[in-house]
Amino acid sequence: MKFIIVISVLLFHTMFSSAVLAQNSNLFFPLPEQANYNEDKAALGKLLFLDPILSKDQNYTCLSCHNIYFNGADTRAFSPGYQQKFARLNTPTVYNVSFNQIFSWVGRGKTLAEQSSFPILSNNEMALDRSTVEQRVTEKYGANFEKLYGKKQVSFEQVLDVLAEFQKALVTPNARFDQYLRGEISLTEQEAMGYKLFKQYGCASCHNGINIGGNSFQKYGVFKKRKWNQEVVDRFQISGRDKDKYVYRVPSLRNVAKTAPYFHHGKAKTLDKAIDVMAQINLGRKIEASERKSIEAFLKTLTGQLPDILANDK
Ligand code: HEC
Ligand code: HEC
Repeated sequence: MKFIIVISVLLFHTMFSSAVLAQNSNLFFPLPEQANYNEDKAALGKLLFLDPILSKDQNYTCLSCHNIYFNGADTRAFSPGYQQKFARLNTPTVYNVSFNQIFSWVGRGKTLAEQSSFPILSNNEMALDRSTVEQRVTEKYGANFEKLYGKKQVSFEQVLDVLAEFQKALVTPNARFDQYLRGEISLTEQEAMGYKLFKQYGCASCHNGINIGGNSFQKYGVFKKRKWNQEVVDRFQISGRDKDKYVYRVPSLRNVAKTAPYFHHGKAKTLDKAIDVMAQINLGRKIEASERKSIEAFLKTLTGQLPDILANDK
């Protein structure tokens, strides 16, 4: 009798641990091959994304900082906005943004629509106000909005709604990693080694999920204490909690090979540098050059295709 109990406990234990293991290997998911969005709203959102009427002096568009034809972000560390004032954080990519669970570096917007209001209203970016947005958009696109919402008079919320819908279309499908996850291809030896190290060293404990990030807040410098001052823009500015000093949203690593420079301050110019810094300050270890190369090769498999909604432009 005792023997049977021991056997069944052992059996249960084995089943349980393999369930946990299976869960662990499901840290990553491929992007859908087809983005899911409302086409009419997205088409209108695209016109607005590219239209300077959303900025006070009509000199800036969303595209000025988010180059959706290249990486959805900016190749400069900080993007200039209204009157050449600079944003105080590096511009993140809007590619695959609808799969993030947290928006911006610090968790500003609760939804993609709300997040899209900040650049329009911010004095360093487009520096406009709600009522001028409503007035200008009604004048130029009233008829288009009427078809969608039944009224010519456009509200600020409707502007945000179509901008968000367009951004839902900015999915970069069929990265090599996604093809691998779907079982269609195998990784090269070096990529596979990089993938293994990415999990083994613990990068995946913060960078995981469908966007390989974008779903949690973590410290920039778990293993390295820094002096904090009022100038630092971090999660603390939103929450006011001491534990949020130097805390940022873990960025998505999708298309990361194209989104240099890196980090909230844009100081790391190469992917190799970013991997080295991460290893030292967030894992408390040094990773040697050949292993960093493998990790870099893995990260390059995260580059997807240009979003379909842009395919026929230019
Ligand atoms: C002057 C440069 C600039 C312009 C213009 C600009 N952005 Fe941004 N955008 C930024 C910066 C910088 C951030 C990071 C802000 C932060 O973390 O607080 C950002 C963040 C975002 C995010 C969050 C991305 C994420 O990963 O969570 C979205 C969405 C976004 N912008 C959409 C837009 C839209 C839509 C427009 C046009 C209405 C726009 N942006 C115009 C610079 C700009
Ligand atoms: C403790 C959580 C954590 C771990 C572990 C971690 N990261 Fe990060 N990673 C972050 C955070 C948070 C940021 C954003 C930091 C910032 O700019 O403030 C980040 C940023 C990055 C960036 C820059 C992305 C961009 O768009 O600017 C890269 C690349 C990166 N990590 C790769 C790695 C690699 C490779 C490893 C393993 C060697 C790793 N990370 C381990 C939390 C982590």
